[in-house]
Amino acid sequence: MPLTTKSGNPITIGVGTGSAVKLVKREDPTNAEKQQVIIDIVKNALDIGYNHIDSAEVYLTQPEVGKAIKGREREDLFITTKYAISSTFITKESFTPEEFAKQTFKELGTDYIDLFLIHFPADDYVQTWKDVIKLRDEGLVRYIGVSNFKPEEIEKLIEFEIPLVNQIEYYWGIDKPKVLDFHKKHNILIEAYSPLKPIKDPELIKLAEDANISPAQYLLKHLLDNGILPVTTSFQKEKLLDSFKVHNL
Ligand SMILES: NC(=O)c1ccc[n+]([C@@H]2O[C@H](COP(=O)([O-])OP(=O)(O)OC[C@H]3O[C@@H](n4cnc5c(N)ncnc54)[C@H](OP(=O)(O)O)[C@@H]3O)[C@@H](O)[C@H]2O)c1
Repeated sequence: MPLTTKSGNPITIGVGTGSAVKLVKREDPTNAEKQQVIIDIVKNALDIGYNHIDSAEVYLTQPEVGKAIKGREREDLFITTKYAISSTFITKESFTPEEFAKQTFKELGTDYIDLFLIHFPADDYVQTWKDVIKLRDEGLVRYIGVSNFKPEEIEKLIEFEIPLVNQIEYYWGIDKPKVLDFHKKHNILIEAYSPLKPIKDPELIKLAEDANISPAQYLLKHLLDNGILPVTTSFQKEKLLDSFKVHNL
């Protein structure tokens, strides 16, 4: 099923608020200047034409996403968040997917989430998946899926419902044909995080030169051509723009 915004538009490549972006907040959570850096990334992306924003409970960046989308037509945006089952690596404020969804509504200033993912397959993730299905059935979220799940972990969820999305690390050159085949067979969309990891690879740079496009565009196009949806990010508006141009290649 192709993912769309509530208003029916196809979704673009995503702009992420994790990885290096989340560290800006974690280093000094109450620093307004640092919060503004995150708000500006999302605003820059929306101004360029991105309609797809990626966030997560553990990034602590949802309040900044909420500020960045203020005044925009909510139904034209597609917002993903991820629920962390386990609190082993960060203090969590929510304990159930429903509590987290409600916390997210407050932070984003919205009353629904477009895509709700289980961030990692920790603890009793099968029970969590059942809870997430219930959230969707109750209308709090539109689409549901997982992140960082291996095929054998997804197999355990399938009898309840097949996740629509698995967000995993994926990029040109990583070559995981079995993983690709599994997702294709079950019609699960792969969202690729860290799609630009090989950006300095000399072979990639040569391929991009030959194709007369930037290395980032080559990497993102390779994924889109293979039915994989990349989630990227940049502190710099020019780089967000360079990446977004992949939609016209
Ligand atoms: N589900 C998960 O467990 C998980 C894990 C990791 C990430 N994610 C999500 O995926 C998002 C993206 O991850 P990522 O940051 O690792 O992705 P990435 O897109 O592979 O890497 C971003 C890096 O590439 C640079 N860059 C961006 N656009 C560029 C361009 N056009 N040309 C050259 N360099 C460019 C950026 O540098 P500058 O900022 O200096 O421009 C930044 O260092 C995260 O924000 C998060 O939302 C999810």
